[in-house]
Amino acid sequence: MISRKTRLAALAGAITLLAAACGGTDQPQNTFDPQGVEARELDNLITPVFVVAGFVFLLVNLLIVYVVMKYRRRSDDEIPKQVHGNAKLELGWTIAPAAILAVIGVFTLGTLAEIHADPGPEALEVEVIGHQWWWEYRYPDQGIVTANELHIPVGRTVSIDLKAADVVHSFWPPKLSGKVDAIPGRTNFMTVEATEPGIYYGQCAEFCGFSHANMLLRVVAHEPADFDAWVRANTTPPVDTTTLTGDAADGASLFRTKGCASCHVVEGYAAGEFGPNLTHLQQRETFAGAMFELNERNLRRWLRDPPGEKPGSLMPDLELTEDEITSLIAYLNTLQ
Ligand code: CUA
Repeated sequence: MISRKTRLAALAGAITLLAAACGGTDQPQNTFDPQGVEARELDNLITPVFVVAGFVFLLVNLLIVYVVMKYRRRSDDEIPKQVHGNAKLELGWTIAPAAILAVIGVFTLGTLAEIHADPGPEALEVEVIGHQWWWEYRYPDQGIVTANELHIPVGRTVSIDLKAADVVHSFWPPKLSGKVDAIPGRTNFMTVEATEPGIYYGQCAEFCGFSHANMLLRVVAHEPADFDAWVRANTTPPVDTTTLTGDAADGASLFRTKGCASCHVVEGYAAGEFGPNLTHLQQRETFAGAMFELNERNLRRWLRDPPGEKPGSLMPDLELTEDEITSLIAYLNTLQ
């Protein structure tokens, strides 16, 4: 028999743990701190529903406590009053919840219609493709293919076609929108619109294998002029590999001989298929599913043993020497 004290201590511990999970609004993935049009619409629905649900929860629990206390057996030889149904009460607790749910249903359908409204011809089109374990972003009108960091202009609807290359993933930047699944063989649809410039963090929200937890993402919302500058930087012609010298030239040739070029695209130089497009790698802040800041130290650790840094990474350990890594990093640094 567990003592009363132990049980109370366990309960207090559990409540403390639960409460500790509630951060302030400055948490980067706080779904209750909407910063975008869609997230705000969802928040406007969930807040009143939560209030109603909380009220019902309290009411039901108070009534249970009241009934248990009032109708309890008070002594060993007493049989409490026996009750066999009450038509009025039963009708009441059937009709009242049905009415509450109907009202919530009407508002829910309204919110769904708003979120799925046609984004219109002014929207920025982006194709988002989930891979194990990183995100690919294609901007068909701008001719940009990039990874992990989705750049968007503020105040403009972004129309996202959501796909998956291998298994089911789920795209979720909590401050901007709800989560939508990316499913192989079909195209799902979502819109996001940021109202303030900034970096919005998110992650894959559907278990998709070893590094599901490392499949992070960022949405970078720019003022329109800054977004145009980002587009220009990512559409400038890539460096002509034949003009490279020294370590960078060595790195470029290793990029082909070591097999990097069979997975990665570098426009004009490599036409791989499975990995992230590296043409304008240096325009990014992060790599490997936004798991690491893009800097020389992290790249070196990564190139030594990718699956060691990110479990399950489809990029294999190429058993590169330190000199080869130095050359490859010199080459990657030219991918502006
Ligand atoms: Cu992709 Cu979890």
